[in-house]
Amino acid sequence: MQGRSDVSVSQVSEASSISPNLQTTKHLIVSRADGCWLIDRQGERYFDCSAGSGAVNLGHQHPQVVAAITRQAAQLVHTGWNLQSDIRTEAVQRLGAFSPYDNCGVLLTVTGAEGVEAGIKVARAYTGRKFLIAFEHSYHGKTAGSLAVTWRESFRQFIADSGTTIFTPFPLLHLEDESYGTEACLKELERVVEMLESAGEPPAAIVIEPIQGSEGVLPADPGFLRDVIKLGKRVGCLTVYDEIYTGFGRCGFPFYGSREGLTPDLMVVGKALGNGLPISAVLGPTQIMEALPPGHHTSTFSGNPLSCAAACAVLEVTQKEETWRLADWAGVQIREGLLGLSQDYAFISKPRGEGLMLAFDLLDSSGNPSPRLAEQFAEEVLRQKIIVRYGGFHGSAVKITPPLLMSVSELEFLMEGLRRAAQAIANNALR
Ligand SMILES: Cc1ncc(COP(=O)(O)O)c(C=O)c1O
Repeated sequence: MQGRSDVSVSQVSEASSISPNLQTTKHLIVSRADGCWLIDRQGERYFDCSAGSGAVNLGHQHPQVVAAITRQAAQLVHTGWNLQSDIRTEAVQRLGAFSPYDNCGVLLTVTGAEGVEAGIKVARAYTGRKFLIAFEHSYHGKTAGSLAVTWRESFRQFIADSGTTIFTPFPLLHLEDESYGTEACLKELERVVEMLESAGEPPAAIVIEPIQGSEGVLPADPGFLRDVIKLGKRVGCLTVYDEIYTGFGRCGFPFYGSREGLTPDLMVVGKALGNGLPISAVLGPTQIMEALPPGHHTSTFSGNPLSCAAACAVLEVTQKEETWRLADWAGVQIREGLLGLSQDYAFISKPRGEGLMLAFDLLDSSGNPSPRLAEQFAEEVLRQKIIVRYGGFHGSAVKITPPLLMSVSELEFLMEGLRRAAQAIANNALR
């Protein structure tokens, strides 16, 4: 193809179009960003209540992150995974020190989905087993599995095919339905483990999001998480926390796995680690991490210097400002506000979640989840210059996951906008 240096940006964008697979907001084209705000071509500012899909805990364009990647860009942008770099060594050391593990092995990856796949490989290599237990309503990524079409048998031995995954119910505490309560879910998990053991195929890993994010912000009871870890230890399988959403302070503590009694065998982290730069990782005790033979999980950009520079800055700011405390504080204020909304408007459910990983459902007049109202609510919220994500397994959950570094006036702007949107829905219903 010829170079197109003679063509202006607008001409190029008319000639090509983004795949409809990437459903984008139709009317909003972002040109710049600043902290909690996304700014369009006309200079209109929108509060980003999704924090870029949970990836910018420190807010967009955080000055320390921007300075770190700018400095790094002038020095070294790329090495390839098989060469060490100063910044990669620093990122590994900082990340290991921030993790809950004393001797932490750090396997750097690029995306969340890739990190999850690498974590599964580590668990399979360590246990010599292949079956996995995952949970209903889980979300761990969308890659189709490149190993399925990769030839070398030693790479393929860790393939993550769906035939070796058993799904078991995740507690749905907001439903107040005993069959999805903590006890019932634990019993079912035990039954699945026993079934696998008696079939001579004990599980390699139990993979779990401590709070399920994508399917509607569904928190498990800490007691459930503790019992999952205990059960895993009893049967010699690894518990893997997917902390891609919950990590780096979002839920009011550095990681879920840094809470007393809740440290899993492995953790996968991503999203906020790079505050907008692509980087993820598998973390765990070195004696487990070393089970994966060298070269069995690599990708061209793992340990990319720019992403590592961003991660170093993120870790420094996160530790210095103890951002999890801010998330905890702001989460309490927002939760109270949302509780107020649920009392004033029957179509808004009680909030759920922890820290700044919160959600509520939009309900129809019979109290059932309403995807249509959730969509309307998100549109009304956008009119208030706030971007929220909605969806979940019922399609009715509105997710509140703003940046953790938020001022009091920004918090008030958010709550005022949500209230106005709720009032607009109530007014529409009366018309
Ligand atoms: C818990 C969890 N795991 C994995 C992923 C996949 O991450 P990525 O989109 O970076 O592949 C996500 C993304 O939303 C997630 O929330």
